[in-house]
Amino acid sequence: MLIKIRKSWEMRESDVTPEALFKNRRQFLKTGAAALAGGLVGGMLSRHAFAAWPGVGEMLGAVGKSKFDPGEELTPWDAVTSYNNFYEFGTDKADPVNTAQDFQTDPWTVEVAGACAKPGRYAFEDLMKPHPLEERIYRHRCVEAWSMVVPWLGVPLADVIKRLEPLGNAKYVAFETLFDPAQMPGQRRDVLAWPYREGLRMDEAMHPLTLLSVGVYGKTLPPQNGAPLRLVMPWKYGFKGIKSIVKITFVEGQPPTSWNMAARHEYGFYANVNPAVDHPRWSQAKERRIGEFRKRDTLPFNGYGDEVAALYADMDLSKFF
Ligand code: MTE
Repeated sequence: MLIKIRKSWEMRESDVTPEALFKNRRQFLKTGAAALAGGLVGGMLSRHAFAAWPGVGEMLGAVGKSKFDPGEELTPWDAVTSYNNFYEFGTDKADPVNTAQDFQTDPWTVEVAGACAKPGRYAFEDLMKPHPLEERIYRHRCVEAWSMVVPWLGVPLADVIKRLEPLGNAKYVAFETLFDPAQMPGQRRDVLAWPYREGLRMDEAMHPLTLLSVGVYGKTLPPQNGAPLRLVMPWKYGFKGIKSIVKITFVEGQPPTSWNMAARHEYGFYANVNPAVDHPRWSQAKERRIGEFRKRDTLPFNGYGDEVAALYADMDLSKFF
């Protein structure tokens, strides 16, 4: 007999949809009706019906109720989109929302390179459109010891990777953000070695929780959250979630990553959320959920241990932090 054990991120059908999400779904309905009444294509229609990918800030269309939901209160849209780390647009949390609004993300090309059978330059739409969108409500824990709960929209990175047909020697996947100092004022200063770089081991990249996100709260990603395409990995510190991706490379050796290059004793390659391993300058044992006063305990792997701990079973996580 097959007994289905509910994963910690899965919701029961009977679970109540959080209020903010409910409001957001009503907005889906309103936008869809208005779009149809106006003879426009969009709103409630599946994104496959779009002639073009919706622009920044537009609705991505209806997706089913999320199977991935920790059942915690969502962080409001305003906080998710105005308290950001995106150093290309400044180092202050309020900088990205203020300086990224004219960021041009259409057209957008993603270069696929390295050890795979389908390298090339892909229009963003061509890379994403074959895959149905999913909503994933994930805990989002920053290395700076704050956290949020965010309803992302995206596709499993694994689905995109499979289509690119990695070769046997592809042991890691490397990602790069756009380098364009004319548009990204933060890149005119040496805060980090640009472009921003991140990397994953292939099994991490293929893990079902790893999301290539194109939206948040039902809409396309705002520039400050990494439009048009960013990574989301709920069991890792937020800095692994590289924004505005323009390059994906399949490589044999562990790729260099921006924060590790900047301070390798402070930011490891793995960056798994781990309350037992402090940052050299502060504790990682607790976190402040944005909007809350009292700190809460940080969970190993940000609460996703049942799903991902096996990936690191043989590793000393104080060494490979
Ligand atoms: N990606 C790029 N290109 N540049 C950045 O500065 N900051 C990272 C990550 N991705 C960053 C980035 C950090 S430190 C965090 S915590 C998350 O983005 C923040 O994502 P959010 O602003 O959507 O919450």
